[in-house]
Amino acid sequence: MFDLTNQIAIVTGASRGIGKSIASALSNAGAHVVCVSRNINDVKSVANSLPNASAFSCDISSADEFTECVNSVISKHGKIDILVNNAGITRDGLIIRMKTEDWNTVLNINLTGAFNGIKAVTRTMMKQKSGRIINISSVVGLIGNAGQANYAASKAGLIGLTKATAKELASRGITVNCITPGYISTDMTDNLNDAAKEKLIKQIPLGRIGNPDDIAHMVLYLASEEAGYITGQTMTVDGGMVMI
Ligand SMILES: NC(=O)c1ccc[n+]([C@@H]2O[C@H](COP(=O)([O-])OP(=O)(O)OC[C@H]3O[C@@H](n4cnc5c(N)ncnc54)[C@H](OP(=O)(O)O)[C@@H]3O)[C@@H](O)[C@H]2O)c1
Repeated sequence: MFDLTNQIAIVTGASRGIGKSIASALSNAGAHVVCVSRNINDVKSVANSLPNASAFSCDISSADEFTECVNSVISKHGKIDILVNNAGITRDGLIIRMKTEDWNTVLNINLTGAFNGIKAVTRTMMKQKSGRIINISSVVGLIGNAGQANYAASKAGLIGLTKATAKELASRGITVNCITPGYISTDMTDNLNDAAKEKLIKQIPLGRIGNPDDIAHMVLYLASEEAGYITGQTMTVDGGMVMI
């Protein structure tokens, strides 16, 4: 149904978890996907497993590195249609003990990283008068979570960044949306023990932990022509855990 033939996409954090599923969904829909993460071997092996993809190593928290990545994609393919800002990290801790370094690292990757990517693609997307920007936030950015002040602030910041950018770029035919996943089974969330998982599942009306494809399907929709009238929105994909 969603055809992305001839589209050029960048997906950050594509080496595993949600980003890997997003890269796969976009590539299988016909896009050429540039898979980005810091570890080139991991991201290369993902790109090699997809029908139409390549790999690029960059630290998204560096404006210079992310800009170089985007510029190399634009000079090779002549355009950029889709940017998925998915890469993110956690450095959890109660605020009373949270190190400034852990605060800064999370904000620099999760929020400034997305800003760096958006800034790097904007001029070209404006000239094209088309583009899709999709930011991966979290339900934690909507409702907060004890022990995750840095992460929650970064994810709430992404929602504001999405809305402001959507308003700036709408007249140029560019849509900007974000997705707030609930609890999704990946390396990031693997450390919960079985008792904690059972407790969590009780809070999810649909009765299961999400999988990366649940998020990838929403990205695929938002990236498609069919979603052309949606911008500035926050799409929650969480099995009904947070209803606001
Ligand atoms: N899993 C969940 O339950 C859940 C829920 C809500 C939101 N999310 C969000 O969804 C996104 C993906 O989560 P996930 O669970 O798939 O995480 P994950 O399995 O830990 O994967 C994170 C990805 O981001 C990349 N990355 C991290 N820092 C980077 C940097 N500075 N520059 C470039 N790439 C970087 C990692 O590769 P390298 O280490 O090689 O760079 C990896 O590919 C994150 O933004 C996360 O906050 C996840």
